[in-house]
Amino acid sequence: MAPFTPAFSRSAFALSLAMGTLSTGASLAQESAADLAFRDAVNTPPVDYSGPVFELSHDYPKQDPGECGKQECPWLFIDVDFSSEAPLDWQSGPWKDYIAAIMEVVLRGQDPNLSNELGFQTNVNGETAWFHMPWMAYDPTMGREFAHGTTNERTAHLSDFLGSPMPNATPISGMTEACQARFAHGFESWAVGVYNKWGAYALGQAFPEDGAPALVEQNGKTVPAGLPFSEGTLVAKFLTTNATPDCVPYLADSAVWQVNRHQVSSDEEYTCQRGLQTTRLTQVDVAVVDHRSPTRWVYGTFGYSANAPGDTVLERLVPLGLQWGSDPDTFPAVPRADSVPASQSVLNTKIDTYEHWGCAGRLAGPVDNPKSSCVSCHTAAFAAADQTSADTGQDIPPVFGFPGICADGGSPQNAAYFSNYQFPDLYPSGAFPGAIPLDSSLQMAVAFEQHSVFANKGTPNACTDPNQF
Ligand code: HEC
Repeated sequence: MAPFTPAFSRSAFALSLAMGTLSTGASLAQESAADLAFRDAVNTPPVDYSGPVFELSHDYPKQDPGECGKQECPWLFIDVDFSSEAPLDWQSGPWKDYIAAIMEVVLRGQDPNLSNELGFQTNVNGETAWFHMPWMAYDPTMGREFAHGTTNERTAHLSDFLGSPMPNATPISGMTEACQARFAHGFESWAVGVYNKWGAYALGQAFPEDGAPALVEQNGKTVPAGLPFSEGTLVAKFLTTNATPDCVPYLADSAVWQVNRHQVSSDEEYTCQRGLQTTRLTQVDVAVVDHRSPTRWVYGTFGYSANAPGDTVLERLVPLGLQWGSDPDTFPAVPRADSVPASQSVLNTKIDTYEHWGCAGRLAGPVDNPKSSCVSCHTAAFAAADQTSADTGQDIPPVFGFPGICADGGSPQNAAYFSNYQFPDLYPSGAFPGAIPLDSSLQMAVAFEQHSVFANKGTPNACTDPNQF
């Protein structure tokens, strides 16, 4: 999905094998798709390391977990109306109960301070409750690190297209000049996502034990086995930043994790060299499948705030809003003159922490692109046809943005990006007819892309300059 990835085709790979020209054949022979798909991290801890070590949870359920009841999916039993045509109010509606019900399940059995030692635990009360996406420990630049399994967040990268002065990281408003100088290349965010057993039942079918994605034909379309994710699916993602509380005061007393991320050179540029460094929890994202939503998905986000009441880190996570659609009747899906106020996001505007929203009243989190929104970016999750490497915007939809995003009201690109559609629909512009729909999972898009690099090239793209992405 990275724009810099050359498109290798399967046939080119087969041809180079046949001609004996594949220079990396040796490494292919050593490490199978299964080894690479399910490995824990891109590299191993140093010998003198005594901190937490991430283990990929990939013993995906083989049985359909069935209908999700009130105990495990309490949000599905909350009466919500996703069809309102008027803007909604966070304080009076059932929305805060809905997101609280999701979070209560996410945090069951976790350390209330999400300490470095314990991190986010996949085993809860003796049972594996949480599972990870395979193939995210292949790419040396952004791939999983060994301490907490975080990967370098891609959401920040779309600033490439937006002319931001900090291409690799998100600027945080209100920072002093001294701080801006100290973080001249912005902040990196590293995040780890987890799927519950409903989500993982789909993952196990899409990525069987041989590690290669399994594809099936559904009504004439090629789709991953196991999709769509069934109702009951819950995904959570914990995002950390290397911003410090002296620069960003609301991060004070947040969870402090040591993650093996890019080191900074003497002129403050991020390098390919990894090292254990401090990061702090700043945002927690959640997503659930709920048939009542016009996209079948509901996204929600929390921001950490030192100012929030609560004795523990988890209690100081403030819900920021929910989103279930891209508001296709709202600017920039339509020109300003025809626009109605957004009604498929509900935002908690009474917060004392810094938050920007997404495009025109839609939801996006503190470290997300303010010109996008959760649902618009996620519904555009596709893999390239025939499992070739994807050139974003050419082979798959432009998830990370395009010129004029959130500006040119009514442009075909904005109309497609900010519209509502469901798996296995094509991207609404019709421009990517063979692309494989991934039911909103952008981690699955990363996995498909990384597998395609492996299958076509046999070796990951080398890390050259993390500041470029
Ligand atoms: C501009 C694109 C973009 C926006 C906006 C965005 N995300 Fe994501 N999100 C991604 C990408 C890319 C991934 C996969 C890579 C990763 O996990 O770092 C991802 C991963 C996730 C995951 C893990 C499961 C999955 O679907 O891959 C969740 C949950 C999630 N995001 C929730 C949210 C929520 C909630 C919001 C809004 C507050 C949001 N995202 C906004 C791009 C985006």
